[in-house]
Amino acid sequence: MTAPANLEMQRPSPRAMDWRGRDVVSIRDFERKDIDAFLELAERFVPAATGQKHNTSLEGRILATLFYEPSTRTRLSFEAAMQRLGGGVIGFSDPSVTSNKKGETLADTVRIVDKLSDVIVLRHPKEGSARLAAEYAEHPVVNAGDGAGEHPTQTLLDLFTIQHEFRKIDGHTILLLGDLKFGRTVHSLVTALAHYSVKMILVSPPNLQLPEEVLHECRDRGATVEVTGDLEAALAQADVLYVTRIQQERFADPEEYRKVAGTYRITNALLKKGKRNLIVMHPLPRVDEIHPEVDASPHARYFQQAANGLPVRMAILASMLGGKA
Ligand code: NCD
Repeated sequence: MTAPANLEMQRPSPRAMDWRGRDVVSIRDFERKDIDAFLELAERFVPAATGQKHNTSLEGRILATLFYEPSTRTRLSFEAAMQRLGGGVIGFSDPSVTSNKKGETLADTVRIVDKLSDVIVLRHPKEGSARLAAEYAEHPVVNAGDGAGEHPTQTLLDLFTIQHEFRKIDGHTILLLGDLKFGRTVHSLVTALAHYSVKMILVSPPNLQLPEEVLHECRDRGATVEVTGDLEAALAQADVLYVTRIQQERFADPEEYRKVAGTYRITNALLKKGKRNLIVMHPLPRVDEIHPEVDASPHARYFQQAANGLPVRMAILASMLGGKA
């Protein structure tokens, strides 16, 4: 049973920072003290992430990136993180040029890659794929997105961004907007936010609501979660607006996607209805849910959020493989 929300911020214990040999498959494997410790550690990697400090603490170690689904930020930031720590990278971003094409199973690919590397980062269209990979690999496995399941490292960088902005996560209202059904970043984020004293407000098309089991899990742990269709009223209360893309690739019927595509569009006019210090986040890529005019507004944080992926992923790799800030 996880600690209820509303607990005072605990000081991370040094032990919590040592994730040596452990997988990052689900955010459910993290207690609040683990998340806080990762965020604190990530802060210490900022100088090395921006190239101001030289870090070779993972020299001689190899990261394997196995990406069976498209990615820009996640794969490149993991690869940059490993290289900023002095390590090497192998992998693929197009499974059609691998033995997958010849019918090789994920389990067999993982068994082989495990012998060639020290850590595996996997993105795969099937929910549960990272858990399966972790069973076959002796080295740690990181879930970089398993279908509509989870995306735990995105959550750590999302929380890092909120903490960086407001100095703490507790006490804030987070409005999550868009495809809450298939959006794996949302599933991991709300689960993690349930550890904090926050209010979550969920706004989505009726057929793209947060899965019941995820909602119940959050509420069972004492989280305040409001579900509403009134975006403007929700926006007026929010400190963070977390926008997501409608996950076209998860729709079995293209007609169903067409019905909901373009439902929401964040514009500067709409943001005027929000708080002055509201921040707009998005895991990216965006399609049309945030108008490009918002990029220059004082509310936009999505590019900084993406950049925060680097120190956060350096912290993850370092704590798994014994690197130092
Ligand atoms: C997200 C993903 O892949 O789940 N992207 C990311 O990793 N930043 C979000 C998305 O694809 O919409």
